[in-house]
Amino acid sequence: PRKIVIDCDPGTDDAIALFLALASPELDVRLVTVVGGNVGLDRTLANARALVGLAGAGIPVIGGADRALLGSFVAEPRVHGQNGLGGVVLPDGPPAAPGVASDAIRALLRQAAPDEITLVGIGPATNLALALATEPALTDRVAEIVLMTGAWSEGNVTPAAEFNAWNDPAALAVVLACGRPVTLATLELTAQALCTPSWLDTLRAHPGGACLRAAHAIMSSVPPSRRLGGKGHPQHDACAVGWLVAPGLFTHRAVHASVDLGPGPCRGRTVIDRWGRLPDPPNARLLETLDPAAFFALLAERIAALP
Ligand code: BDR
Ligand code: CA
Repeated sequence: PRKIVIDCDPGTDDAIALFLALASPELDVRLVTVVGGNVGLDRTLANARALVGLAGAGIPVIGGADRALLGSFVAEPRVHGQNGLGGVVLPDGPPAAPGVASDAIRALLRQAAPDEITLVGIGPATNLALALATEPALTDRVAEIVLMTGAWSEGNVTPAAEFNAWNDPAALAVVLACGRPVTLATLELTAQALCTPSWLDTLRAHPGGACLRAAHAIMSSVPPSRRLGGKGHPQHDACAVGWLVAPGLFTHRAVHASVDLGPGPCRGRTVIDRWGRLPDPPNARLLETLDPAAFFALLAERIAALP
């Protein structure tokens, strides 16, 4: 199995992504690091602990940045509720591991062989940027960095920017420039992972334990996306994990990706060169399509196998 670190800000869709990762034998989750974002770090950390606890996984969970490299995070309680899990209350999880996320990522990399660790970022990229920027000699231990971030058409928090990119554009720029292979699950991909009322009915009828019931309650709490015609809401973050679990469900192409660091209306916009118009060589793999039926079947089957 691939050894991974998940850096997350749970977050309703982060919760589903975490469950998918913890339930998948293709992945060996070594560390869960937590960043502020969808709600404050106090909540995202408590949620990550609770989710890991419910899944029965004895994996260290550790808190990190509660603000962007150059500013503060702005939360999204309309999508994720005040508690970050759509009001769903889970039993408290195991205590957080001591220390801070970026140190813990570096400690893991230090003990790893070249190309051994895959970093999965499904929140603002702050913790990952801090880990990679402060000890660049360790980056060769990173096999791949898979991010749910960005968009090549329009954003979901401003007309230009996707939420994770917009919350810490400088951190995303650091990660994109780190020299390791980056894979991007952007909004155009995650729009294909649309959680509809009919799929929620299927999930409700699916046999399973506490994690499946929690996943159903959490997903049911999210309002339909106006941007996507009100037909459902996207399971953004599970797309990034899904790529590592079942790459055959995806298509992709090599692109150059950068992020707008300016203070104006394009702040946090990712500029993704799908047609090779820029002189810059590709620095990322853009996930372009996924098979929605197979993706949601995978989610249900895997989460149902958790406690
Ligand atoms: C991303 O922003 C957050 O609200 C979600 O958890 C996801 O990581 C989607 O733009
Ligand atoms: Ca997230």
